[in-house]
Amino acid sequence: GDSYDEECDYLFKAVLIGDSAVGKSNLLSRFSRDEFRLDSKPTIGVEFAYRNIKVGDKLIKAQIWDTAGQERFRAITSSYYRGALGALLVYDITRRATFDNLKKWLHELREFGNPDIVVILVGNKADIAHSREVEKEDAQNLAEAEGLCFMETSALENLNVEEAFMEMIRKIH
Ligand code: GTP
Ligand code: MG
Repeated sequence: GDSYDEECDYLFKAVLIGDSAVGKSNLLSRFSRDEFRLDSKPTIGVEFAYRNIKVGDKLIKAQIWDTAGQERFRAITSSYYRGALGALLVYDITRRATFDNLKKWLHELREFGNPDIVVILVGNKADIAHSREVEKEDAQNLAEAEGLCFMETSALENLNVEEAFMEMIRKIH
């Protein structure tokens, strides 16, 4: 393997979930490569990205899985969740339906995910807050009821993206 693999102290898997077009792939490309695309295509199947992170004196390699929000493009659900220690559960603050659907995603997480999985609730597209359909308070209430951390992010403006992933990683380690 490459030298990163050899020097790495921990490798862990995390997953991105949430409805189509909420910005999962752009959150991941922002976090892993500092890239954003306004014209990104829906994900088909599963994609991966890695990032090496120093936490204290340990080098952690995060392997982050990204799948399609659209049912017809999704891969096998059980293998997607298998071994995942963390999840970013993403909705779009400008589309209420993506928030209402969180119930469905939480149900899937509980069915297929590790019982101890660290889940961060992420309200993405905070840069277009003038089109907001989900109040922060609604998300905070849901997060509290479900025992999740909550953050609003913008993959476009690179707002809180690093923080959301790092919060997940810190809670795992
Ligand atoms: P699926 O792969 O179909 O599940 O969608 P996805 O959740 O991966 O969404 P994707 O990252 O492809 O983004 C969908 C659209 O939203 C694209 O046009 C992105 O440019 C846009 N987008 C993503 N994040 C943001 C953001 O923070 N702000 C704004 N304004 N647009 C965003
Ligand atoms: Mg995608």
